[in-house]
Amino acid sequence: MRSAFGVTLLGAGMALASTPVSSLIAQAGNKLLTVPNRFIVEFQSSADLPQTRRSTGAPENIYESLRERKISFDIHHEYNSPGLFVGVSLTLNNAQDVASLRSTAGVVAIRPVKLFDRPSPIDFKNVSDSDSGLPDSEGVHIITGVDRLHAQGITGHGVKIGIIDTGVDYTHEYLGAGFGPGFKVAGGYDLVGDAYTGANMPVPDADPLDQCAGIGTHVAGIIACNPNNPFNVSGVAYDAEIYAFRIFGCLGGSAEDVIVAGLLKAADADMDILTLSLGGLGGWTEGTAAVVASRIAASGKIVTIAAGNAGDAGPWYSANPGNAIDAISVASSDSPIIPLQSLTLQGSMHAPIVYFSSLPLPVNGSLPLYATSKNTTVADDACNPLAASTPDLSTFVVLVRRATCAVTVQLAHLAAFNASVALIYDDGTGFTTAISVGKFKAVLIQASDGVFLAQQLATGTAVNVTFPQEGALVQFPDPKGGLVSAFTSYGPTEDLFFKPAITAPGGHILSTWPVPLGGWALLSGTSMATPFMAGSAALLLSVKGKSAEVVATARSVFQSTANPLASSHTDGALVQTTTQQGAGLIQVYDALFATTIISPAELLLNDTAHFVGTQKFAVTNTGKSPKTYTLKHSPVGTAVTVPTGSILPASGGPIPLSADYASVSFDEETFTLNPGQTHEVVATFTPPQVDATTFPVYSGFIHVVSDAEDVHASYMGLAASIIDKAVIDTSTEALGIQLPLLDDPSGTNEAANYTFVNGDEPFLLWRLAFGTAVLRVDLVTADTTLPGAVHGRGIVPIFTFPQSQNGGTFSNINVVGPILEHDYAPRNDGTSSQDLNFVSGLNMTNTFANGTVIPNGSYKVLIRALRVTGDPDKEADYDAWLSQTMGVFVT
Ligand SMILES: *[C@@H]1O[C@H](CO)[C@@H](O)[C@H](O)[C@H]1NC(C)=O
Ligand SMILES: *[C@@H]1O[C@H](CO)[C@@H](O)[C@H](O)[C@H]1NC(C)=O
Ligand SMILES: *[C@@H]1O[C@H](CO)[C@@H](O)[C@H](O)[C@H]1NC(C)=O
Ligand SMILES: *[C@@H]1O[C@H](CO)[C@@H](O)[C@H](O)[C@H]1NC(C)=O
Ligand SMILES: *[C@@H]1O[C@H](CO)[C@@H](O)[C@H](O)[C@H]1NC(C)=O
Ligand SMILES: *[C@@H]1O[C@H](CO)[C@@H](O)[C@H](O)[C@H]1NC(C)=O
Ligand SMILES: *[C@@H]1O[C@H](CO)[C@@H](O)[C@H](O)[C@H]1NC(C)=O
Ligand SMILES: *[C@@H]1O[C@H](CO)[C@@H](O)[C@H](O)[C@H]1NC(C)=O
Ligand SMILES: *[C@@H]1O[C@H](CO)[C@@H](O)[C@H](O)[C@H]1NC(C)=O
Repeated sequence: MRSAFGVTLLGAGMALASTPVSSLIAQAGNKLLTVPNRFIVEFQSSADLPQTRRSTGAPENIYESLRERKISFDIHHEYNSPGLFVGVSLTLNNAQDVASLRSTAGVVAIRPVKLFDRPSPIDFKNVSDSDSGLPDSEGVHIITGVDRLHAQGITGHGVKIGIIDTGVDYTHEYLGAGFGPGFKVAGGYDLVGDAYTGANMPVPDADPLDQCAGIGTHVAGIIACNPNNPFNVSGVAYDAEIYAFRIFGCLGGSAEDVIVAGLLKAADADMDILTLSLGGLGGWTEGTAAVVASRIAASGKIVTIAAGNAGDAGPWYSANPGNAIDAISVASSDSPIIPLQSLTLQGSMHAPIVYFSSLPLPVNGSLPLYATSKNTTVADDACNPLAASTPDLSTFVVLVRRATCAVTVQLAHLAAFNASVALIYDDGTGFTTAISVGKFKAVLIQASDGVFLAQQLATGTAVNVTFPQEGALVQFPDPKGGLVSAFTSYGPTEDLFFKPAITAPGGHILSTWPVPLGGWALLSGTSMATPFMAGSAALLLSVKGKSAEVVATARSVFQSTANPLASSHTDGALVQTTTQQGAGLIQVYDALFATTIISPAELLLNDTAHFVGTQKFAVTNTGKSPKTYTLKHSPVGTAVTVPTGSILPASGGPIPLSADYASVSFDEETFTLNPGQTHEVVATFTPPQVDATTFPVYSGFIHVVSDAEDVHASYMGLAASIIDKAVIDTSTEALGIQLPLLDDPSGTNEAANYTFVNGDEPFLLWRLAFGTAVLRVDLVTADTTLPGAVHGRGIVPIFTFPQSQNGGTFSNINVVGPILEHDYAPRNDGTSSQDLNFVSGLNMTNTFANGTVIPNGSYKVLIRALRVTGDPDKEADYDAWLSQTMGVFVT
């Protein structure tokens, strides 16, 4: 089986049309989503077995049964956490054995082992001590009320937080400078070793030190960095105990069986809170890591997980395992202030000019300015080699306008004339995006400053530039500050769960970094928002105790007190969709001292076919005096998730919002509660009447308002039936050619015979416009036809799926054998064909999925994908596509 789903890689940005289709197949299989032949097998827990069989233990019985049947396997991890997960991860030495494994007594489930990419931080900046005076984390502490808790001495004392990540550099002075009982980093475990990449064998040891990767150390600082450091930052819960469970090596990703081992190890080590700043391809609430994380949360722990940084990929894409039903999936908000450096001018009167870097550009002295063009609207400045008459630029600061070509292309043209320092002025693309400059000393400046400089040169004024190495730090107000970070992945899940759950500060966060790598760094990402949430949860537990009830209601308490954010700072902008901000920006002080508790705080209305229009939630007055409450409905922007006429979800930028709102009525709009009393609110919703083909996700808040408090429940639903959403992309939208495609690299796209030697093999290319719980690629006989439309509901049923969940061997007519099966496949995404998950595909071989050779003959390839909420046994609920004839002629 050569399944071929890539990982998301956003923002590469190359034109679609310029990519030859034949190159896509190489790319489609570039990064495999799953580890070949490795499975996580869940056993019946011995507690579930009859008393008589308990003594022998389930794993041994199962291994014995496998050996008896000559199934050869290697064990990687044994999981023995009764009540959470009992099972094993193993590699089958013969792929054929998967069916036997599945039918072994005592085996409850088999799931493939997915690969998770290491979270790539956004806007990475290395910070040094000379930057003291940077905005302390107090900025983000103030907007969330953490500063007021610190002032009361609430700092997370007595709470244990397990960080499942790259490890922690506990040698850091402000992370306690030590490891083990009595230190801030009180324990943990290294499940993988430095050299682990996700593709090789982990080498565990007892020491989770991180001096090469960094994210885990940054996460640890956001939670627990000691105050009174050169940058004046402090962790949200700096007296909490940290335990580091290392599941990433220095480079690369991690496999799901390791992540599951890390989760269970942290749970078994009695952590109060588990936090994971990682995420793979999104959409589903399924997958072993998500299922285990959810069970751990349900067992009485708080689990916080990043929502993902794939905002560009559009809706229905919140990350796994963050989609774990009972976990808290965390979105990021941008900080209102970014610490940036400024340069000064000589020869021209002008205030210092801010440039996009937290560190001073290491350039000494005053250098004259040179512009590659004095035209301030030129669109392709320095996109072509500079004129031969250009002087030697080694002693200049070169001014360039950001252009249609890549910055690296512009810099290469400058370097050809020995330039080494450049100011790139914004062309409207935005001043908040860091640029990639390699070793070149180049920084972004704002459009107005660039225009001013170009005009000075145009009028013949000689201007010099100086980059002060000290004292030039500016607290730059981020125009997008206070909004949800654009990079935050959008939910909801394919099955309409409310993800992300909540927003925490994750944009431009200064925190600790491994000592050998500089000690401090400024990073952005939902990876930074997640530990903020974990630290906030620690503050909650340190004040309210760790009772089952406090833990079970933690998510509701934070959600009901969160602060809804707008979609932009423009006057009259709609409130941001809950599919990106969840319940709003976390307000930690309010959460801890709320005296009105709402449960549940998420009202899941589902789609129109499964509409749950009447919702109930309990309101409890935990205060000391009676309160009179009034209910208030505030809808937020409805997410138009699929553009009109398109088969693909909206991508590449903010999802369009509409003001088509649901309406709601209450059985009682006002009620009074004495201390300790509870009232059940009954809310009846009517979805907005909108174009269902755009799959609008409507949402909003039911505020419960008293004199002193304003808390809310969040609701979300789809004003369409999700089963109507096409899954297999049969359009030309993505590539300009009809998909799917069974083709050979020559691009003939006609019936052909293949020998399967020397590259004489076709490739299969497809794109999922939506996630699917069941994806099957089968070989069928050449006389097979699909009557009517090749996709869509209501096709004449010619296939049935008697055992579709049981090996994919469809015993019915025409199915010769399976080529590929995949459960809970995420959709493809990306705004550019260079994105690694843009298409999926595989080079056909002359074997079935189980390794058996396909007999010579003529066949067709059939792709089927189950629509969301479809019945796996009902062929009409599948999208289907049938190829042209493909001859297998191996000599
Ligand atoms: C498919 O075959 C082509 C041509 O032989 C090769 O370049 C490409 O890497 C292969 N792709 C995969 C996913 O194996
Ligand atoms: C650090 O914070 C304290 C208290 O908020 C303040 O008095 C001090 O000036 C800050 N120091 C720096 C270097 O910003
Ligand atoms: C700038 O000057 C300082 C002191 O003379 C020197 O140490 C440093 O290397 C110089 N930096 C550059 C980039 O030339
Ligand atoms: C500009 O820089 C050049 C080269 O460093 C220097 O000779 C000149 O004096 C500077 N001009 C001003 C106005 O500082
Ligand atoms: C400046 O560049 C723009 C865009 O390329 C062009 O339309 C305009 O004519 C140019 N202006 C001058 C004065 O060359
Ligand atoms: C929505 O309904 C579908 C079909 O019954 C179900 O599978 C899914 O879990 C429901 N989603 C939620 C959030 O309840
Ligand atoms: C950060 O800076 C330090 C010191 O300048 C350097 O040694 C380290 O390699 C840098 N780290 C990264 C990731 O750039
Ligand atoms: C494939 O080979 C078969 C058997 O030789 C032949 O009948 C058929 O025409 C061939 N098809 C193509 C497209 O060449
Ligand atoms: C592999 O699959 C093919 C097609 O379904 C089937 O005919 C064959 O018996 C299978 N081989 C084994 C060893 O199970």
